[in-house]
Amino acid sequence: MQLDDAEIIFHEPLKGGYRLIKFKAPEMAAASKPGQYVQVRIPNLEATALRRPFSICGAEDGVLTILYKQVGRGTFAMGDLQVGQKVNILGPLGDGVFPLCDSATTPLLIGGGFGVAPLLFLAKQLPQKGVLFVGGRTSEDILITEEFEKLGWEVQLCTNDGSVGTKGFVTAALDAWLEAHPETKAEMYACGPEPMLKAIDERAARFGRVAWLSLDHRMACGVGACLGCIQKVRLTDAAGNVEEKTLRVCKDGPIFKSGTIVWEA
Ligand code: FES
Repeated sequence: MQLDDAEIIFHEPLKGGYRLIKFKAPEMAAASKPGQYVQVRIPNLEATALRRPFSICGAEDGVLTILYKQVGRGTFAMGDLQVGQKVNILGPLGDGVFPLCDSATTPLLIGGGFGVAPLLFLAKQLPQKGVLFVGGRTSEDILITEEFEKLGWEVQLCTNDGSVGTKGFVTAALDAWLEAHPETKAEMYACGPEPMLKAIDERAARFGRVAWLSLDHRMACGVGACLGCIQKVRLTDAAGNVEEKTLRVCKDGPIFKSGTIVWEA
């Protein structure tokens, strides 16, 4: 984990309030693993404002890339940052990362909205190409899928309003794939809204597959100190004993294995 004043080298809007920002941060980029995140201190906010967490979308050639959506005061202030400005970044954070499957396993990536961001970083590191399932409310929420196609991935798009791809939830497309490939060794990796993660956790159990789920809780400190991001989990040891524990999403996560998360009712 490092603290860097990183120079912005690219900052452009994509569509639908989403933006892509790139920082020159050679050491942090080299240390980053798929699934990890960074905490950014947004310069235009008051000094007491908390850092904002962002998934790492890319970390190649000394450049750290973040894909974000302007939804609140912090991310709107972030939208004003200019190329050449320096921003204080803490990272990479999170001990729970996406484990890379072996080359005999087909990776299935499932992203909801800008949940595709960490999946692009992952896709570049996996030893095997697979299928990306992306869901969003409208075509405005379908982002950077051409990057996966350039890497040779199959991409299946789903939108709630049918404005692009298949109309419906991304889990319907995933179900169709899992039902059509019962013999294929596959592993799932997902990032998106909690109802989608919960639905994928349920698929993992139903289809007897492993899924790796990226949880998104409110994070204040980002380093495991404030206990503001706890998640109850149920862990089973080799002897079959089950133990309930509370883990910190920021430090022990943000990636958790399917079958371990105790979802709130
Ligand atoms: Fe402080 Fe997780 S954000 S412990």
